[in-house]
Amino acid sequence: MVFRQRPAVISVATSALLPEADCWRQAVHRAAALYGTPCYVTRVRPVETALAELERRVGPGVRSWLSFKTHPLPRLLEWWTRSGRGVEVVSESEFATARALGCDVDQLLVNGVAKHSWLGRHPIEGLRVHFDSATEVDALMPLALRCRWRVGVRVHAPDERDRRDDRFGGQFGMTTDEAVHALHRLLAAGADVLSLHFHLGQHHHAAGAYRRAVEHAARVSDAAAFRPRFLDCGGGLPGPAEAAPALAELIDAIGAARSLFAPQLEELWLENGRFVTEQASALAVRVIDAKVRPDSRYLICDGGRTNHALAADAGPHPLLVLPARTGPARLTTVCGPTCMTDDVLARVPLPSDVAIGDVLVWLHAGAYHLPWETRFSQGLCAVAWCDHDEDLSLAREREQPEEWVRRARCDADLQSIR
Ligand SMILES: Cc1ncc(COP(=O)(O)O)c(C=O)c1O
Repeated sequence: MVFRQRPAVISVATSALLPEADCWRQAVHRAAALYGTPCYVTRVRPVETALAELERRVGPGVRSWLSFKTHPLPRLLEWWTRSGRGVEVVSESEFATARALGCDVDQLLVNGVAKHSWLGRHPIEGLRVHFDSATEVDALMPLALRCRWRVGVRVHAPDERDRRDDRFGGQFGMTTDEAVHALHRLLAAGADVLSLHFHLGQHHHAAGAYRRAVEHAARVSDAAAFRPRFLDCGGGLPGPAEAAPALAELIDAIGAARSLFAPQLEELWLENGRFVTEQASALAVRVIDAKVRPDSRYLICDGGRTNHALAADAGPHPLLVLPARTGPARLTTVCGPTCMTDDVLARVPLPSDVAIGDVLVWLHAGAYHLPWETRFSQGLCAVAWCDHDEDLSLAREREQPEEWVRRARCDADLQSIR
């Protein structure tokens, strides 16, 4: 994978341009002192801001579900459910976590692929489930009928694409024929069918993609003679900094849905991950070694790309330095502590007086960072949580070296080395 870093990284010299830079400096400074580095810091205020903006723009009659997979932090889930909103889960682990944290059946929405491999173990009355395939419908229909699950069908939207190769449409949802057939079967069997669902995915969408998805869902609905009470438009908005055009398109599509699905439509549902959580976390890493080479200065840090594998490849992130440094800029490669040249967070001009012991703050490390975190050569890092009053607490402990060994071996092995 090629590391691409455009020069949009904000170093200490220009960080005043970044809204909230001071809040992040303070939060990370305290978190690094209390919990050490590497450490994620999640602040709830950016979540509140993004959510308020989204809900204000889309207007009433739209419900936002937490895309838990995007930032699977139990603290966030607890805050979210306390706000009265629901949680969308796509795996048994997320489902079990949400249930264990008291998420009731009305606040839970089960999406995702191949749920027949696990959902049958959970005969819960009134669960909300979106079927992704004919196989799921076959396997889960008896339970859906017995437990009066409130179900729907995910359609494959016309603009869905594989993010890395747009010649391919991706593995999600049902074709028109599959969806119509599934709806017929569910309705004929007497299932409580309430919703249609689509999710555009994370590739850059062509203009009109949201509207085309809504119109496609309306065609499926007509073909199946089924009128949904809920239309789940999934996620698909980028982070707030780049979301303006897509958000305008979403608002337009919501307007279209309101007229296409009237009068039966009661609510539209959203499950925005990146828009809601991307700016809510930072990764704090400490510089532990430095090397000056003709091509670049290299800062070796105690955390790096392995703390969030894939997301480091997705584009530039603003970067802050603690304490503030003002030396002349010098091309710098910010590396993690592993043995791969892939383990690079940024290659950008940074003040040349950034020193061993400084903390680098890699911002916009919310959405899809924790889920992609790896144990490459080290354990998982600590996660700190800042509540609405910016009070800090430990949300996840750092994994210790002994635990790393325990995970790498099975119990029998451990018995033999005791
Ligand atoms: C079904 C579903 N809903 C919501 C999301 C969140 O997407 P985003 O981060 O693009 O908002 C995803 C992400 O993969 C998803 O698969």
